[in-house]
Amino acid sequence: MNLTGGLHWHWRAWRAQARWRSTRAQIEDWLLAQPVSSDDLILIGASAGWMMSSTWLGRYRSVQTWDIDPLAAPLFRWRHGAALKIQGVRLECRTGDALTQLPNLLNEQPQATIFFDNVLGQIRFQTARTDQTERRLHSITQALRSRHWGSVHDRMSGRVLKAWPHEPLPEGGQTVQGQANEASATQQWLGRMGAQSPWLDHLTDSIFPEGTCLTNMAWAMKPGYWHWLQAGWVRP
Ligand SMILES: C[S@@+](CC[C@H](N)C(=O)[O-])C[C@H]1O[C@@H](n2cnc3c(N)ncnc32)[C@H](O)[C@@H]1O
Repeated sequence: MNLTGGLHWHWRAWRAQARWRSTRAQIEDWLLAQPVSSDDLILIGASAGWMMSSTWLGRYRSVQTWDIDPLAAPLFRWRHGAALKIQGVRLECRTGDALTQLPNLLNEQPQATIFFDNVLGQIRFQTARTDQTERRLHSITQALRSRHWGSVHDRMSGRVLKAWPHEPLPEGGQTVQGQANEASATQQWLGRMGAQSPWLDHLTDSIFPEGTCLTNMAWAMKPGYWHWLQAGWVRP
């Protein structure tokens, strides 16, 4: 059973497009601010690209999407296919477990940039124990050494007191992985959000190497249940 994708996810995403718009725009701005260092992109956990920017994808010569959800490929083509065709991007949508096959994918496309599109924070739901999640994430990041890769993923999630859409999402700003003030800066930001303890830890705090510049974003995933998304790029 796919706990983080499938029909339920598509239905929720389709209905939530207005509520998710500002987070989607923040992700797009963050993506567009990055220099493109390769012609080819592998997008893992693509789903239908509900939060993805066609404009950013249009910077690549080819985009290969991966998702375990069989509905993802046709829906991704439906949402992004026409825009990518106009921009001359070759799009290939694959169905399968890209995380297990990651070493093969990296070998097959040694120059491609890898982007994990809100999938690494879901591994904790696919493993029975915390240490298994941490080991799985560690083996993924080890496999990526010497590659240009990026990720946006859940860092934490939980209940908030703030109503939606009456107030703007509080800016999470930037932090640096491992910097001393990182925890207090994000705690203050969660406080401005009206976060109600306890929040669920998605066990992604060690994904990025020390010194990585991180962008923090709030995502009003459900009206009273928000996610702290963290995004970063790693260069070899
Ligand atoms: C939270 S959704 C991300 C949605 C997507 N990025 C978007 O903007 O709509 C997580 C996605 O990751 C997919 N997924 C989970 N494990 C995966 C794996 N091992 N390989 C490929 N996709 C996976 C799920 O099927 C789901 O579609």
